[in-house]
Amino acid sequence: MNKEPVIKFEDVNFSYFPNSSPVLKNIDFHIFKNEIVCIVGPNGGGKTTLIKLIAGILKPDRGKIEVFGSSPGENGYKLGYMPQSVHYDNSFPISVKNVVLMGLLGRKGPGSIFGWYSREDRQKCEKALEMVKMANFIKQPFYALSGGQKQRVLIARALISDPEILILDEPTSNVDSETEDNFISLLKELNEKNNKTIIMVSHDMGFVSEIVSTVFCVNKTLVIHPTNILSGEIIQQIYNCSMQMVRHDHRCSGKGHEQ
Ligand SMILES: Nc1ncnc2c1ncn2[C@@H]1O[C@H](COP(=O)(O)OP(=O)(O)OP(=O)(O)O)[C@@H](O)[C@H]1O
Ligand SMILES: [Mg+2]
Repeated sequence: MNKEPVIKFEDVNFSYFPNSSPVLKNIDFHIFKNEIVCIVGPNGGGKTTLIKLIAGILKPDRGKIEVFGSSPGENGYKLGYMPQSVHYDNSFPISVKNVVLMGLLGRKGPGSIFGWYSREDRQKCEKALEMVKMANFIKQPFYALSGGQKQRVLIARALISDPEILILDEPTSNVDSETEDNFISLLKELNEKNNKTIIMVSHDMGFVSEIVSTVFCVNKTLVIHPTNILSGEIIQQIYNCSMQMVRHDHRCSGKGHEQ
């Protein structure tokens, strides 16, 4: 089966300031439809920067990036993105419903800009909230939710447009273990039944290893660990590597970096 990658990076470099040392260097990879990729690495390693490049929020200094064959950012609702953190001003008490509906902004006709959503949109909103078990909170102000509840609502916002690629930046950093389990089942279902490609940043390889097909270790450069033949040894290797990187800021060992 000859599959076209949905995301291509060719020798990409990125730095936040001109002439400063790159935050990401020589990044080269392909992601194929239906893959589940987990990005691991130490704080400041460049994980969020990498997914912002995929989402088209940042532009590379060097190299080429393609998402569905075009420049990132030109793919509209094929891509659902959940950022690592979102701040809404408490003096502007936006409801959970409106946070989720924002996932449809810019998609279509004039109504959406002013918050005029169709019945179908509202149904999509309810469905997305049900998926993350937050339907009961639809009318609540977003600021009044706990950290984990906010994360679930932000996942719903990424899901509402039914994107082909779902990008999640630390979706479970604040959630409890039951929510984490539900979340794993949700990702599995979205991947297997709805053919979604999923890219997620997580410090917790242990919990995602059962569904992940590829692990990206990002620490300025990228090392890819295919996990299609998941043996206990490989999981251990990746786990140790990422945990060392996370806890002690070590680079992956030479062994851990072998592809
Ligand atoms: N907006 C910005 N302006 C300047 N430098 C930035 C900016 N965002 C991130 N950086 C720098 O780029 C590097 C990579 O940051 P990034 O947020 O991609 O790391 P990360 O791997 O997502 O870390 P974490 O695990 O803490 O979320 C860090 O050195 C960081 O200080
Ligand atoms: Mg980050």
